[in-house]
Amino acid sequence: MDRVVIIGSGAAGLSAAIRLAEENVPSFIVEEMPPWRAQSNMAEGGINAALDTMGQHDEPALHEEETYKAGRFLACREAVHRLTHSAPKIVNTLFAWGMSLNLNEDGTIQQRPFGGQTKKRTAFASASTGKQLMYTLATRARFFEAGRMIRHITGFRFLKLMMENGQAKGVLVNELQKNRVSYIPASAVIIASGGLNGLFGNATGSVLNTGNVTASLFADGLPAANMEMIQYHPTTRLHGKNMLITEAVRGEGGRLYVEQDGKKFYFMEVKYPALGNLMPRDVIAREEWQWIKQGIQPYLDMRDIPKEVSVHKLAGVLEACHDFLALDPLKEPIPVSPGIHYFMGGLYVDVNHRTPIANLYAAGEACQYHGANRLGGNSLLGAMYGGRTAADSAMEDLSGQTSSFRPDEKIMTPTYWTKDKKEGLHIPAARKALNRILQKSLGIERDEKGLLLGLSEVQELRAAVGGLYDESATIDENDAFPKSLLLAEAILKSALNRKESRGAHTRSDYPDEQESYRKTTVAVYKNGGIHISLAAIEGDPDGH
Ligand code: FUM
Repeated sequence: MDRVVIIGSGAAGLSAAIRLAEENVPSFIVEEMPPWRAQSNMAEGGINAALDTMGQHDEPALHEEETYKAGRFLACREAVHRLTHSAPKIVNTLFAWGMSLNLNEDGTIQQRPFGGQTKKRTAFASASTGKQLMYTLATRARFFEAGRMIRHITGFRFLKLMMENGQAKGVLVNELQKNRVSYIPASAVIIASGGLNGLFGNATGSVLNTGNVTASLFADGLPAANMEMIQYHPTTRLHGKNMLITEAVRGEGGRLYVEQDGKKFYFMEVKYPALGNLMPRDVIAREEWQWIKQGIQPYLDMRDIPKEVSVHKLAGVLEACHDFLALDPLKEPIPVSPGIHYFMGGLYVDVNHRTPIANLYAAGEACQYHGANRLGGNSLLGAMYGGRTAADSAMEDLSGQTSSFRPDEKIMTPTYWTKDKKEGLHIPAARKALNRILQKSLGIERDEKGLLLGLSEVQELRAAVGGLYDESATIDENDAFPKSLLLAEAILKSALNRKESRGAHTRSDYPDEQESYRKTTVAVYKNGGIHISLAAIEGDPDGH
């Protein structure tokens, strides 16, 4: 019988599992942590859909246009079309499944303004939309778990994709409690493991989101796309790591300012009178950066928002500021700075979420919808829709045949890394060094000098561990690290290769957007080297 293995139980993974179960296809979710620890829980501000419940004549075509434009025309237009036109059904279905959402007086779903959009289009559950969405998905999945259509194995870490004749056949996993390697055969594998926070160390998302799955697949030759497109969220605040102050604060009327000559200067409102504090994230992050470079601190002020709105619709923000920052935003402004929040690039997939490897699919933080910059509120939507689409593609491709493939026993035998013991290379410290290098070289503004320096530093780290980089090694955090280094190198090379500024990728040495670069960056590891190329955007009408 066919069985689909899903790596990860966030919004994309659960969405895929539910879709498969609806068609009586069993799935097996491999997760290190249960769904309530998935990164999707951390989404705050909302999920976009042109529901048109706010009397503003919104429609999916406008959502499509604004998503495509905010992504600086780098996304696959067909994918954006499908995403945005499916959005109303997705949000209405979540509501029908019992998702708590803020409602209008007439019982329709309330929507708030979000960045880069001219209509109130973001459905929300106060400032805890991700949590409510995940409760809803986990509860929905329960119905199918009872009939064993969905099974979770918790405490298992993905190690390696197993292939035969270019087709995905299953996965090797590490059972963390026992440190034992097992093979799980699969008719199809859907990767839904989230972004790459672990490479950068400090991001708004979960520290559990290591990026190791993407790194492992990349090291095994799977192409990655647009890796240089890293989103900085404009309103984060450091408390050990960057905490997200949701865009919903600005959606509800929060204002950004800096102090000049003892006066507040509302820099976004002055420079961008139409959208002001709700310009797309790449624009605001760049504007803030200009002040921060001069040593001037930007602030987010919630005091102009009516108190009842803050208390009812932004309760989570007030609580988090109180608990983690010891600050009361009803009384004082929040010092903010841009912080890494999301990866627009990721494993290369087509419009149907197929990867170049047969029977392998990816959803969530994979490329396609967001181009060079994602709109706030499109992340949960992309995860929901991407998971369902990957599941649909997997079902189309299922053969009904059970594969007799079994991996060589040798690969199931742990091959531990020993360099840290032998030569004093301390992997956690080396990982921290990698984090520092990437944060420094892949900042809001990049240039060739900084990127080349970052590259040589990563290469030095790789040389330090290189002798022991064994592609057949299957186990241990230490094994994941060289693969992370490889992926880091690919990100830096992708950024070097894009000699223009577009969306989140701002090159101070190439400040203009160039039509000739309206292409997908593809990074691939083969024959021991990383190769970067620019490929036509799938289905691009202009043939770039
Ligand atoms: O600011 C936020 O609430 C983030 C939302 C998103 O990234 O979609």
